[in-house]
Amino acid sequence: MRFGFKGAPLLGLSLILVWSQTAVAQSEQDSCSTCHRVLPDERLSAPAEQFSDDIHATKGFICIACHGGDATIVGPAAMDPAKGYIGAPQRQQVPALCGRCHSNAQFMRRFNPALRVDQVVEFETSVHGQRLLSDGDPNVATCTDCHTAHSIKPVSDPRSSVHPLRVPATCGGCHADAERMARYDIPTDQLDLYQTSIHWETISEGGDLSAPTCNDCHGNHGAAPPGLSWVGNVCAQCHSMMAELFSESRHSRVFALLGNPGCATCHRNHDIHPASDEMLGLGEGAVCANCHSADDQGGQTAGALRMAIDSLRTTTEEAHSILLRAENSGMEVSQALFALNGAQDALVKARATIHSFDVEQVNAEVGAGLEIVTEVRSRGEQALSDLRLRRVWLAVSVVIIVALIVGLVMKIREMEHGGGRI
Ligand code: HEC
Ligand code: HEC
Ligand code: HEC
Ligand code: HEC
Ligand code: HEC
Ligand code: HEC
Ligand code: HEC
Ligand code: HEC
Ligand code: HEC
Repeated sequence: MRFGFKGAPLLGLSLILVWSQTAVAQSEQDSCSTCHRVLPDERLSAPAEQFSDDIHATKGFICIACHGGDATIVGPAAMDPAKGYIGAPQRQQVPALCGRCHSNAQFMRRFNPALRVDQVVEFETSVHGQRLLSDGDPNVATCTDCHTAHSIKPVSDPRSSVHPLRVPATCGGCHADAERMARYDIPTDQLDLYQTSIHWETISEGGDLSAPTCNDCHGNHGAAPPGLSWVGNVCAQCHSMMAELFSESRHSRVFALLGNPGCATCHRNHDIHPASDEMLGLGEGAVCANCHSADDQGGQTAGALRMAIDSLRTTTEEAHSILLRAENSGMEVSQALFALNGAQDALVKARATIHSFDVEQVNAEVGAGLEIVTEVRSRGEQALSDLRLRRVWLAVSVVIIVALIVGLVMKIREMEHGGGRI
């Protein structure tokens, strides 16, 4: 008997029941793994060795959960097609095989109610799924390419092939393989580019798993060619303030008409680097200069925005160095230094607000920051002028003290001389 992969949900369910019962009785009799472990052919023994650490083994399943057969028979007859043995499934058959359990909410709930059960449905809508299942293209990813067949781990396990630290290499295994991808009209540079990005740096060096890796932008199972609204949506999940401002801007509508890919027009998609003020304006490295010049409205706005940001940045830096000078001279300016954080915050907000591409909105943030800077700066200058005053007083008092000492010494000498005479 072969598996009816397309239909027979009842058969599937009863098989699952048999499986789960066998699972309980597993360790009592497992001829499959006992024999396979000692087979000389690596292709046949490796699955048995790897499987001992697989999540499915941990949950009590044995080989027959996927391959069928009868694990109580010692000898090759264990692999009897009449007992449901299917051999090694074809790539096209794998989604339905995994889906037997993973698409069955009732069954999965007994193990982990929080686990999603839509992987197969999502996979079927992806480019991978469509090419594999409709076009029969064996080059695209099936479940086991991303998860392995015999060392499947929970996603949270750092050894899992789909753990955030390992996803890029898993996807890149195919997408960076020029030979494999030669037949398709898509680039093979995503992995290389992504590994230069701030997102990968945040994950790999900062250990902050909240930054996106391949599947966060492309979907775990719905890896689809991203449409335009989709691109905006995916960045918006995490950068909501920029996304909101951008969606209300003139660019949002014009870019959609022109076919420009939203955020990625200015930031790129895989090699996203830290943003800087140089990106703004019409100078070298300014993204605005790609489309605007000094004689159009956009170019003029770009210049004005850059000036506004620069003015807040440079005045904040100046105020900061004044406070540092005062502090190094022993003046108490910790409160003013703390207040200057408000200007830093305003600068961060102003940089985000440039996504409105509206001078007034940016100036509102910059203005709030400049107010703080002016106030803090005057406190710093006050501290420095207090310092000067103190120094003058110090100098004056030193002069007075020295004069007193000199006077005293002279007086003593005078008295000594006078005493000699007596
Ligand atoms: C007595 C040893 C023995 C037992 C028991 C055994 N196998 Fe095998 N198995 C082999 C050998 C030898 C081969 C390679 C020859 C072949 O394909 O028949 C093999 C092949 C396989 C293959 C690969 C088939 C392919 O198409 O490449 C799978 C999958 C497999 N076995 C699963 C199982 C399962 C599941 C069980 C338990 C129900 C099991 N085996 C029990 C010896 C065994
Ligand atoms: C979770 C499902 C699952 C379980 C459980 C499982 N396998 Fe497999 N196995 C597969 C799939 C799927 C393939 C097809 C190859 C692939 O997609 O990588 C496969 C392939 C194989 C092959 C052929 C390998 C090759 O390279 O041709 C052997 C042999 C095998 N399995 C043996 C076993 C043995 C022995 C066990 C138990 C120790 C086991 N499998 C448990 C899913 C499973
Ligand atoms: C293109 C690669 C890829 C393919 C193909 C793929 N997966 Fe996944 N899968 C992932 C990634 C990446 C995650 C991790 C998601 C996360 O970080 O939360 C995942 C997570 C899972 C999980 C954990 C629960 C969840 O949904 O987050 C299950 C179960 C799962 N996949 C099953 C499957 C099955 C069944 C198939 C085949 C129908 C499949 N996967 C195909 C990449 C893939
Ligand atoms: C016999 C039923 C069954 C089959 C067939 C099956 N699984 Fe599972 N799978 C489970 C169960 C049960 C769990 C454990 C869920 C839990 O307790 O968290 C699991 C866990 C997983 C996990 C880890 C989810 C997590 O916690 O992050 C992944 C990934 C996964 N399976 C992928 C696959 C893939 C890929 C296939 C096909 C090659 C497959 N499974 C076939 C029942 C099955
Ligand atoms: C087993 C190899 C393999 C693996 C692993 C794989 N892919 Fe793919 N993927 C392909 C192939 C081949 C295509 C080309 C399909 C086509 O264009 O017809 C493709 C297509 C795509 C597309 C659509 C591209 C387009 O514009 O048409 C995206 C997006 C994608 N993959 C993302 C991913 C992500 C993300 C991962 C990892 C989570 C991944 N892939 C893992 C082989 C793979
Ligand atoms: C920050 C989000 C993000 C991350 C992370 C990401 N991508 Fe993409 N990817 C995109 C966007 C957006 C596009 C569409 C570009 C466009 O429309 O111009 C894209 C396009 C693609 C394409 C289609 C071909 C192409 O290059 O345009 C493939 C394949 C792909 N990505 C694979 C990957 C792989 C593999 C990884 C991980 C190494 C990855 N992506 C990481 C957002 C991302
Ligand atoms: C027209 C070009 C353009 C588009 C489109 C664009 N940005 Fe920006 N973005 C910039 C510039 C320029 C800066 C640098 C501002 C600065 O540092 O002065 C920036 C800065 C950023 C920053 C860093 C802000 C900080 O705190 O320093 C993030 C995050 C960001 N953009 C995300 C996005 C997202 C998400 C989208 C889409 C919703 C988007 N951007 C669309 C030009 C653009
Ligand atoms: C899953 C969440 C997530 C998604 C999706 C995401 N990012 Fe990020 N992004 C982050 C995190 C986390 C950082 C690093 C910390 C930070 O600087 O905010 C970051 C950093 C950045 C930076 C650098 C900010 C700086 O301080 O200079 C830019 C620019 C950026 N992302 C743009 C994008 C764009 C464009 C997209 C969509 C193509 C995108 N991001 C998708 C989470 C995300
Ligand atoms: C990919 C090309 C492109 C980039 C990059 C770009 N713009 Fe634009 N921008 C346009 C287009 C197209 C329009 C619509 C012009 C029109 O309506 O005539 C526009 C319109 C504007 C407008 C509205 C002008 C008006 O007439 O109302 C402003 C302001 C603007 N851009 C500022 C900027 C700034 C600032 C940057 C850099 C951060 C930038 N743009 C980057 C293409 C771009």
